[in-house]
Amino acid sequence: MPKEIIRLVDVRKVYRVGEVKTIALRGVNLVVYRGEYISIMGPSGSGKSTLLNMIGLLDRPTSGKVYIDGRDVSKLSSKELAHIRNREIGFVFQTFNLISRFNILENIELPLVVRGIPRKKRIKRVLEALRMVGGDESWLPKKPTQLSGGQQQRVAIARAIVGEPEMILADEPTGNLDRASAKVVVETFTRLNKEGQTVIIVTHDPEVANCTDKIYILRDGVIVGAEEPNRDKCIIYTVK
Ligand SMILES: Nc1ncnc2c1ncn2[C@@H]1O[C@H](COP(=O)(O)OP(=O)(O)OP(=O)(O)O)[C@@H](O)[C@H]1O
Ligand SMILES: [Mg+2]
Repeated sequence: MPKEIIRLVDVRKVYRVGEVKTIALRGVNLVVYRGEYISIMGPSGSGKSTLLNMIGLLDRPTSGKVYIDGRDVSKLSSKELAHIRNREIGFVFQTFNLISRFNILENIELPLVVRGIPRKKRIKRVLEALRMVGGDESWLPKKPTQLSGGQQQRVAIARAIVGEPEMILADEPTGNLDRASAKVVVETFTRLNKEGQTVIIVTHDPEVANCTDKIYILRDGVIVGAEEPNRDKCIIYTVK
């Protein structure tokens, strides 16, 4: 039996800005098992980022429950939440979110610095993570702007995996990339998943979603169904 790592039970999220109330999620139920490769699609404003932020413990639901590894996260202290975010969740964003004044080594090692891991061990892990995303040692002293967008996103993925998290959550990871770079980024996620990593990708791009194993469709804050991917229309095969 694969291990259940995420369970969302009737998750609702209401944003309030002054008098204005927006219902972003209206009762989402979702179970994710270790090793799954999932994408979430849906129109702009349907709640995809909100949903990913709930799974990634970046925000709390208005009602409903989020369980990570069987633990009800609403019962955890902020210290315990920070611990789970650092240990078990790797986030990848559309805009890479690398720190521009840090070089590539310093960017990737950040989650390990937070954990207090000694420098020698950090560098070893950084190199392993960088190789996993198809990068090499020559990148380490560079600043993010000295790399292409696709390379920067692969550095962001290396930072996400360096601490060997339970899951990778990616919000529009190819949204700012040209097709060739998007393909390389999706190849990277696909390889990581083949090695056992749980990966969840929010995307607008059907050619990205078609590379995953299951496509959930979100509409107006609810999951309205799941689609089977069409591998012939996966960017890995459509972009030469
Ligand atoms: N911090 C916030 N405060 C108020 N409203 C918000 C906030 N974040 C999101 N919303 C609203 O919640 C709804 C869902 O937003 P969300 O960002 O989750 O959608 P999305 O599916 O990720 O859209 P996109 O594809 O454009 O990224 C939208 O109506 C949005 O305006
Ligand atoms: Mg979004």
